Amino acid sequence: MRGAESLGGYIALPRQEAFDIEYWRLEEAKLRRMPPEREFERRVVVVIGAGSGIGKATALRMARERSHVVCADLDEAAAIATANELGDLVGHGIGVGGSGVSNCGPAIGFGVDVTDRASVRALFEQVVLAYGGCDAVIVTAGLYVPSDAEGRVSDVDWARTFDVNVRGGYLVAEEAQRIWRAQGTTASLVLTTSVNAVVAKAGSFAYDSSKAAAQHLVRELAVALAPLVRVNALAPATVVDGSSMFSRERVMGSLRRYGLPVEEGDTDAALRQRLAEFYASRTLTKAPITGEQQAEAAYLLVSDRLARTTGQVLTVDGGLTEAFLR
Ligand SMILES: NC(=O)c1ccc[n+]([C@@H]2O[C@H](COP(=O)([O-])OP(=O)(O)OC[C@H]3O[C@@H](n4cnc5c(N)ncnc54)[C@H](O)[C@@H]3O)[C@@H](O)[C@H]2O)c1
Repeated sequence: MRGAESLGGYIALPRQEAFDIEYWRLEEAKLRRMPPEREFERRVVVVIGAGSGIGKATALRMARERSHVVCADLDEAAAIATANELGDLVGHGIGVGGSGVSNCGPAIGFGVDVTDRASVRALFEQVVLAYGGCDAVIVTAGLYVPSDAEGRVSDVDWARTFDVNVRGGYLVAEEAQRIWRAQGTTASLVLTTSVNAVVAKAGSFAYDSSKAAAQHLVRELAVALAPLVRVNALAPATVVDGSSMFSRERVMGSLRRYGLPVEEGDTDAALRQRLAEFYASRTLTKAPITGEQQAEAAYLLVSDRLARTTGQVLTVDGGLTEAFLR
């Protein structure tokens, strides 16, 4: 520069020319040195039922894939708690949402009632505000009303069971499809059913038949939403640990029905363990089934690894011969 000054003055390159020469090459070199992007990075996955059990495990699984996760549940506090856990897990930002709030990070939590169309629509509006769109929806929200000693539930509970387990899935599909139609991109929907959809037994008529209906709903949605949207079912069995569906009373009732020991002084954990081991003993793989194993199947169903699978049921039941599809 001093030499140039002695020759009549230093003139720097115009800023634009310096930028054109250096900036993009440097940026491109930086990008080439970065690890390749993972499949779910920059994708938005909505998990409805994320406040507990299989839904919570699924939200965690999707966060590990680095997707942005919208955690939704009837229990808004539980949904937000899961979102916060994900924020801590992936280590950047905190994802707290809540009604009417649209700040976002790696995860965000919202309350939603899948039986109420306005509530489902409001959820997807918040998703779009927070992240701009949505790539996959996984519904694990479900209702199991324990039956009385004769295996009956009230008429009101019959209706509630179908409302959550069948109509809820349909409302979510319709409201998500409004976004997917506008996006014009590929997307994926998973509804959680149950092995009980195909195993006939007495004592849980409403729940079992609602899950059978949900399984057929999956096939009909797969037809209706093709070709861009894939729709599949995850059919779990007997995930006792972490599920709010197995109350102490239900676990004790089941143990008694199967002739297994039950003491009033037994801890919840001991009772749950005994029931999980009994269920496992009836399967081919002989080991209790975890929420994480269900989450793995949900992840596979929404991932491109199963990009040509739609209208299908993926069963995670430890190998239950009664549930083999015929
Ligand atoms: N745990 C099992 O053994 C098992 C077996 C077969 C099928 N399933 C199915 O798997 C799914 C998840 O089961 P889980 O064990 O994690 O149960 P869970 O009770 O622990 O979680 C279900 C979640 O759904 C939420 N929910 C209920 N009604 C809702 C509504 N109207 N709107 C939004 N959210 C609602 C609940 O608040 C809860 O957080 C359910 O559909 C269940 O039927 C579970």
